[in-house]
Amino acid sequence: MSIRSWAEPYKIKMVEHLRMTTPSERAVSIRQAGHNTFLLRSDDVYIDLLTDSGTTAMSDRQWAAMMLGDEAYAGSKNYYKLEEAVRQYYGYKHLIPTHQGRGAENLLSQIAIRKGDYVPGNMYFTTTRLHQELCGGQFVDVICDEAHDPTSEFPFKGNVDLKKMQALIDKVGADRIPYLSLETNVNMAGGQPCSMANIKAICELCHAHDIPVFLDATRAVENAYFIKELEEGYAEKTIAEILREICSHTDGCTMSAKKDSLVNIGGFLALNDDKLAEKARNMVVVYEGLHTYGGMAGRDMEAMAVGIAESVQYDHIRARIGQVEYLGEKLINAGVPIIRPIGGHGIFLDAARFLPHLPRDQFPAQALAAALYVDSGVRSMERGAVSAGRDPETGENRYPNLELVRLTIPRRVYTQAHMDVTAESVIHLFENPERVQGLKITYEPEYLRFFQCRFEPVSGSAVLLEE
Ligand code: F0G
Repeated sequence: MSIRSWAEPYKIKMVEHLRMTTPSERAVSIRQAGHNTFLLRSDDVYIDLLTDSGTTAMSDRQWAAMMLGDEAYAGSKNYYKLEEAVRQYYGYKHLIPTHQGRGAENLLSQIAIRKGDYVPGNMYFTTTRLHQELCGGQFVDVICDEAHDPTSEFPFKGNVDLKKMQALIDKVGADRIPYLSLETNVNMAGGQPCSMANIKAICELCHAHDIPVFLDATRAVENAYFIKELEEGYAEKTIAEILREICSHTDGCTMSAKKDSLVNIGGFLALNDDKLAEKARNMVVVYEGLHTYGGMAGRDMEAMAVGIAESVQYDHIRARIGQVEYLGEKLINAGVPIIRPIGGHGIFLDAARFLPHLPRDQFPAQALAAALYVDSGVRSMERGAVSAGRDPETGENRYPNLELVRLTIPRRVYTQAHMDVTAESVIHLFENPERVQGLKITYEPEYLRFFQCRFEPVSGSAVLLEE
């Protein structure tokens, strides 16, 4: 039998209009935005692939749940519903709600890290590492080498290299390592999963040295899908069972619910240890809000509880990752260099190979993101040297191996037709890459510079030369 087509497992009840613009209008917009896609107005964007964070379309059930919001300052019933959902699907004992993921990262960093500590992780994430550094910790990358190679086809590029972890323990001693930060479906590596075998092995190694393991569970459901598809022994298990098993090896998690959990805002810290939870519950009132809302409205917590249950449905997650694969395969077939294998939440263009005429200090990924916007109104994001920032000790630019442009697919928002339009624009630029001009920084903020940095083309011309 021939392979049948598939379609998104939802239909559209309400539409949000998109504004079409011309290339010359977009050339003005990108200049006004300092060639930083974060500084564009969303009204000037056609297809918004900046991020999968908080950009989800909620379901009718979630919108109905919003009406059940109990906006009591203390003890909202929505908190208890969310606590039940986190216990059921993630399996952790204590829930400390936060306004989003970085709120949870702040709490965990403050309660666990002492000045001079080393915090290992499987590749850095921008906000996670900054909170560790602000608490006096030093991030140490213990991800496997394959993760730094955009061409490696290794299926579990999120894996921790056990030898790197052991070497760190031998070098600094376990008492200088407050925890391992274990990210699922590693964002900066291209949405690449960890295998269950690796999660189990690394947790055993850490626990043998009394080092707790805290998951960054932001995209753990997507990781569970890859384990089901790729790892021996998991094909017959449900996504919910695999998610529980991932979490069962670890001691808690930070969570940006704006991704997997299908909501527009929210997050949490979940912990098994009673003492640590007590500390976090005390700290949350300083930074987020009372421990039964943590910066969220009651209705947000209710929508999240429903979203968590929807997130582990197989039809949902297969279509979510299927849409990413659909776009990725179109680009691969046209010879466009992207991170392989195709990851869970987006397609990552390898800007270094896409624009070989641009040196790293002209920020090829930043330039490509700006040029793509001018070409078609598709908004993407730089994930390379600008995102990596500067070394806090030396002040020098950090140049990671990966110089990427991320086309991030929001959940349940776009159709395959939007993916077609996106692919056509990328392929069009790829056919004539010399049109894209390098950039230099004209303004740089102190923290997380990629959000607010401004640039101008080195050549003094437009970032995308006319054909
Ligand atoms: N951890 C990971 C792996 C993330 O991808 C993010 C956010 C966070 C933590 C922080 O969560 O935004 O809710 O405070 N990632 C977004 C992105 C911003 O576009 O990749 P937050």
